[in-house]
This record gives sequence, structure tokens and C-alpha cells, in this order.
Amino acid sequence: VADRPVVIVANRGPVSFREQNGELVASRGAGGLVTGLASLRGEGATWIAAAVSDGDRLAAVRGAIDAEGFRVRTLAIEPSRYSMAYDVVSNATLWFVHHHLFELARRPRFDRAWIDAWHAYRAVNDAFADAVADEAPDDAVVLVQDYHLTLLAPRLRDNRPDLRLVHFSHTPFAAPDLLRVLPAEPLTELLDGMAAHDACGFHSARWAAAFTDSCREMLGRLPTTFVAPLAPDADDLRASASSDACDAALTELDEALGERRVIVRVDRIELSKNLLRGFHAYDDLLERHPEHRGRVVFVAFCYPSREGLAEYLAYRQEVEWLVRSLNEKWGTADWTPILYDASDDYPRSVAALRRYDVLLVNPLRDGLNLVAMEGAIVNERRGLVILSTEAGAFDELEGAVRAVNPFDVVATSDALADALATPNDARSAESAELRRRAEARSPQAWLDDQMRAAD
Ligand code: G6P
Repeated sequence: VADRPVVIVANRGPVSFREQNGELVASRGAGGLVTGLASLRGEGATWIAAAVSDGDRLAAVRGAIDAEGFRVRTLAIEPSRYSMAYDVVSNATLWFVHHHLFELARRPRFDRAWIDAWHAYRAVNDAFADAVADEAPDDAVVLVQDYHLTLLAPRLRDNRPDLRLVHFSHTPFAAPDLLRVLPAEPLTELLDGMAAHDACGFHSARWAAAFTDSCREMLGRLPTTFVAPLAPDADDLRASASSDACDAALTELDEALGERRVIVRVDRIELSKNLLRGFHAYDDLLERHPEHRGRVVFVAFCYPSREGLAEYLAYRQEVEWLVRSLNEKWGTADWTPILYDASDDYPRSVAALRRYDVLLVNPLRDGLNLVAMEGAIVNERRGLVILSTEAGAFDELEGAVRAVNPFDVVATSDALADALATPNDARSAESAELRRRAEARSPQAWLDDQMRAAD
């Protein structure tokens, strides 16, 4: 397999293009996937992605372009069709179902507009499958990433039987009872589409088991699965942490925080990240532990995400309202209890990870969660990590983190209080062990697992 050419297929590309004086300029895209696949750079791998920016659309017209060490091919999909697939099906339906986010009394509602959106999702998947069929060298291994792209395999099996097809989910997979909310035909199509790969990978054995159970119950057959947690690129991270931009951000942060103890979270503004209960737990901590008032700051660097969806806009408003009201409730002339900032600033986020005494990672449900591991790698304060048992990363970090049920605000508050009260020598041992665990795997190991699964 090592000798086979590789094609990556993902909704987001490794770069984002923009036009400057008639030229197309590529800059490294958001998203952790490009770091995870860094070892493929310069190896001639092709990366097929949707055109998201206007520049990406221009790039699409020119065909494959060399950028960031990949042959990047962007697909310009008609905007309203793309939005139905990306917003309505991928993010408002599949993301919600896999993360158990639906409040079932009202949502989901599978009306005729949703059926149209499903057709758009299928059309987008077909366009990706056709692009793979065009671009993939003979006998290539095709690594299809995530829930946006689940229906490629059956079409590719017909058109390109020479290809090896692997699907990898960065999300959890819904429990069968919840997956069953999907209408029958799309549900079968989704499971059939995934099961048609040579293998389907997940970050956690829990998600692989949920997928297998669903296939057994609803398709009457068993797919081939594998478990391969992604890992941070420790060297790349350390380089970011020692950059001038990160040092400057840390100096600024230190000026704002002084000698105060620091709780940190770094997240997309995302319903599954459970920002609200995190702040409620902090409120409870300040209520029950007056000794922390004025002496601790909760630094929340949270950046906007998927604002095309009403649910995300409403969630952001609720988060920001709660932050404001807690700052009003507890704040004093010289102490702001929550330092919240929603501007996306990577060096500043890494600076916060260097500085935390306690890192709070409390998602409701999360495919993996790299922040917990990234924090452990760059932290300089013998920091402790509170981690939700519902994150895929918990499988690997169990025993080295403080486990928390993300729904339990009291338990989260207790975990914060315990972490802040832990004496220095215990903190040293705990944070060193956590760092060891966080560095145990590399992105290369994750890639190797996918290549092996193609065999
Ligand atoms: C998750 C998904 C990724 C996605 C990322 C950001 O990590 O697994 O596929 O790229 O969220 O979301 P966005 O919708 O902005 O791509």
C-alpha cells in the first residue's frame, strides 16, 4: 500500500485561495486535517475539496493546482446546492445526529425541503465521486474524510474498481436508536454508502461500535471498521508555541492576568462543545468557594463557526449573554472573572494553552478533541486537564485527566475546585504523565493506520 498513490477527499482543502492582482494566492487553510496529513506533503498526493471562497471557485476553473505540497483540485458546486448539502444535511442534520444534539420535541423535521436538500447532498457526493474518478491515478488509495462525504464509494466501485477506498469519520457515530430518526431511504443510503468502502475508520472504539451496530441492525451486514485516533503534531505545535507571535500574545495575556490562577478553554462556538455548562460550573465554583473570587480568571477563547445556521447564531448569543451576566454578577473594579474573546487568533490560543492552571474540555460528545492533548504538550504551568468522558480523546487520556460527566454542572464545578486546590508536587507528576500520553501517538501513525486499512 505504501507505494500506491494517495488521494485525499474532504470538504475543506489544505489551502484557501484568494485573488490578488489577477494572481491566485494560496494560504494554509483552517482545520486540523492539513496538519494531520503533513507527512504527505511533497509526495504527489492529490487533495480534492469543495470550493468555499471566491478564490477557490477561480481555482476550480483552472483544474488541479500545486499548493502546500499537494495537488489541490477544488470543485465549484452551484452555491444553493452546496448550501443545502453543507448547511442543511451535513451540519444541521448529520452533525446533530452524530453528536446527539437534537432536542427531539421540535427537531429534526423531515419535510419536503429536507428531501430536496438530501438530493443536493447526493449530487455533491456524486460530483466528488466523479472528480475522484477523473483525478485518481491507477490503483490509488482514496482517503475520504468525514460526514459531508458518505456516498462516494458505491459510484466509485462501478467506475473505478481499481481504487482502494477508506472512509474516516472525525465525528462520533450516532447510537442506533438516534440514527433511526433519519427517514428510511436516506438512512439506508448513508449506511450503504459508508459500508461500501474497504474500511471505515473512527477515532474511538465507541464510535466504531455504534456504526457496526447500526449496520447490523439496519442493513443486516457487518462493515469493516478500524480505530485510529489522530494525534497532535508535537513538533509543529512547539514551533507555534515558541514563535514571536505566541510570545507577544502571552506577554499581553500575562499583563491582563497578573498572578491570578487561570482556567482556560479554547473551542469553536459549537453546541457540542458545551460552553454554557462550563460557565454555569464556574458560576457554581465562585458561589461555593469565595476564596477564588478575585483570584482566578476563566479565559475563554472561542471562535465563531458555521454562522450560516440559526442554531449557531442563537447559541453564540446565549453564550455571550451568559458571559456578560456572570461578569456583572461577580466582577469588581479590578477583576473581570471571564476573559471571553470570539476572534480567531491562533497564536493567542496557543499562548492561553501555555498559561493555564486548569484546562476545561467538556464537550457533550466529541469525535476526538485535540485541544486536550495540545494543551498538555505546550503547557508551562504544571496545568491539569478536566476532560469529558464523552470525548474520543478520553479513551487515550483516561487516568491522566480529571474525568467529568459533561452534563453534570456540580461535578464540573467540583472538578475545577479540586484541580485548583491540587498541591504543586501532585500537579507536576500529573501534568508530566499527561504530556507523555498526549505525545504517545503522531499524525503519521494515524495516516499509517488508514493506509493499512486499505490493504
Ligand atoms: C469538525 C469536523 C471537520 C470540520 C470542522 C470545522 O472538526 O469534523 O470536518 O472541518 O469541524 O467545521 P467547518 O464546518 O467549519 O468545516
